[in-house]
Amino acid sequence: MSYIIVKESPPLKGSVRVSGSKNAVLPIIAATLLAEGTSVINGVPNLKDVQVMSELLCHLGARVSMEGEKLIIDATNIEKLEAPYNLVNKMRASFLVMGPLLSRYRKAKISMPGGCAIGSRPIDLHLKGFRALGAEIVNHEHTYNEQGYVEASVNGDLVGEKIYLDFPSVGATENIMMAAVFAKGVTVIENAAEEPEIVDLANYLNNMGAKVRGAGTNTIRITGVETLKPVEYTVIPDRIEAGTYMVAAALTRGDVVIENVIPDHVKPAIAKLTEIGCHIEEYDSAIRVVGPEVIESTTIKTMPHPGFPTDLQSLFMALLCLCDGKSTVTETVFENRFMNAPELMRMGANIEINGKTATIKGVSCLIGAEVVATDLRAGAALIIGGLVAKGETKVRNIYHIDRGYVDIVGKLSNLGAKVYRVEEE
Ligand code: EPU
Repeated sequence: MSYIIVKESPPLKGSVRVSGSKNAVLPIIAATLLAEGTSVINGVPNLKDVQVMSELLCHLGARVSMEGEKLIIDATNIEKLEAPYNLVNKMRASFLVMGPLLSRYRKAKISMPGGCAIGSRPIDLHLKGFRALGAEIVNHEHTYNEQGYVEASVNGDLVGEKIYLDFPSVGATENIMMAAVFAKGVTVIENAAEEPEIVDLANYLNNMGAKVRGAGTNTIRITGVETLKPVEYTVIPDRIEAGTYMVAAALTRGDVVIENVIPDHVKPAIAKLTEIGCHIEEYDSAIRVVGPEVIESTTIKTMPHPGFPTDLQSLFMALLCLCDGKSTVTETVFENRFMNAPELMRMGANIEINGKTATIKGVSCLIGAEVVATDLRAGAALIIGGLVAKGETKVRNIYHIDRGYVDIVGKLSNLGAKVYRVEEE
């Protein structure tokens, strides 16, 4: 198993370029299924999750090739309408093919994603939306040979409806948007997710000829159209990767320019880093972060966008381990996203978990240890924490990190970090 070694490093200095957004590109890849012909997506991060989604599209019958950061997908001949367990199991976002398949072929059968390290992550809201549009849903919970699959189908057309989401789920909003593009009449999603990735998907669908209005607000209206055409599109930069390097700059008391960022997308990170004492400069598509002398304490509560993103929670927790005084971090989006705390505690952090809230008492330093990445963001947080830990930190289970960070070792090394990847069979 490969691992990453991190040694105590000097303050990070220089500039780092953020890659295209993982969580924007995954639904957009699924959306290419909505049109016959060849779609081209630019700025695609070369990540394990993108490979898995591409593999899934190939399994369905699409032709997929990657040239640098350009992903080329020909979805003319879709032969299968079924996503098997071995692909959905690798990545929950595979479930996002259900909306487009149901929409274009009126039928889809997908293995249920199941839980994962950060929580149980149900799909009830996705299914509630499909049902509202007129789909029949069969949950194969007790069917021999079909066990664990969920099937959606419709006789005739899907029909637009008003759908209220009990929680502004990112995935459910995306899946329902894609299911609704050909539905007769108007679909309204209320309490929709407002994340920038939703807006990117809506822009992509609209470029294809869809009529999606209101993305980025909590009410999205989709007026059904007859056909969509394949287009060329460039995906937005990854706001969570940007936030990761912003935290790295702050924690190491560095001075880093993060390039290819939309500053509006990282407002919560800018706000919290300013509160803890960083100096931040915003440019059109870059942000400079100068770390503070003393990391002031703060309170963080994760929320759906535009609140503080759950995906930056573990990174900020690592940062606050060295705060002056006592900070609190409350996680409201996923029920099990504090698995990183015990790993940070192995490095000398003082963290107490009480339900949804972690209380972090700042310590004067962290100490390198052998730790395990429990999920993607948790893994990145351990690497960043290792930069300021005395001695050496060994991060295991780095396959999680490969799912979502393009060359994190190379990018940090270019900023002066002492970080190495060791490949092992
Ligand atoms: N939820 C339900 N029912 C549903 C769907 C979601 O109860 O049908 C609950 C979930 O259990 C969770 C909450 O709603 O408690 C939020 O889940 P959401 O559906 O918004 O998340 P997601 O679409 O599964 C995406 C990102 C995650 C990110 C979350 C929240 C992708 C591929 N994944 O997941 O990214 O944390 O939104 O912003 O877009 C990551 O990149 O590390 C990552 C986990």
